[in-house]
Amino acid sequence: MPEDLTITRGFPDALRSEVALLYDAAFGPKLSIAIPNTHRRLKVLEQAFDPHHSFVALSGERVLGIAGFKTQSGAFTSGIGPALLRHHLGLLGSLRAVLVLALFERKLSPNELLMDGIAVSPSARGGGVGTTLLERLKQFSADDGYQTIRLDVINTNINARRLYERLGFVPTKTSHFGYLRWLLGFSGATTLQYCVKPTA
Ligand SMILES: CC(C)(COP(=O)(O)OP(=O)(O)OC[C@H]1O[C@@H](n2cnc3c(N)ncnc32)[C@H](O)[C@@H]1OP(=O)(O)O)[C@@H](O)C(=O)NCCC(=O)NCCS
Repeated sequence: MPEDLTITRGFPDALRSEVALLYDAAFGPKLSIAIPNTHRRLKVLEQAFDPHHSFVALSGERVLGIAGFKTQSGAFTSGIGPALLRHHLGLLGSLRAVLVLALFERKLSPNELLMDGIAVSPSARGGGVGTTLLERLKQFSADDGYQTIRLDVINTNINARRLYERLGFVPTKTSHFGYLRWLLGFSGATTLQYCVKPTA
């Protein structure tokens, strides 16, 4: 992990395209079902992100990681709505995207913080950046009075699941996608939950 690593809440507009690239490097394969064209997908992400619902890991000017979240006040990716999709994808493309993205939609319970994507730059993975971002999110959740942090991990992402369990997340539910497997590219996902320790 770089010595000058800093974690900040949000990021300036100048970093939007870099954050979109990083996010897409992690979630592009999944998002491409909704938005197959990489250039358009990056444009949508760049404009849709709400930085206030994220923490970023920076080394100097370089973005090494991003952790988006969703609370009652909004979500990191909440800007991915019909109007923005229509603007970039046209009518048919936006219809496809809206239908596919609806499959990924998750409801929020009161007092809960939902992870809205965590991604570390491929060259920085395995160096502790993801752990640092998750610890920051835990601290933020405690300070702001959330009781639980929830996330979903697909059943093929064994390494990420091990990381979450090491940090105290426990599995609560497994969903099987049945006939949707051919569309999504994975057959199931597990929900993990962390019980926030209140700030003393
Ligand atoms: C999952 C991810 C955010 C973890 O961040 P990180 O900085 O690599 O994590 P850390 O270095 O703090 O911790 C390393 C742990 O993450 C696991 N890990 C998950 N994916 C990894 C990867 N691609 N490379 C290296 N380590 C990875 C390691 O197995 C390690 O666990 P271990 O210590 O029990 O062996 C990051 O690897 C990533 O962006 N992966 C792609 C996107 C993704 O899967 N996001 C999560 C979706 S639920």
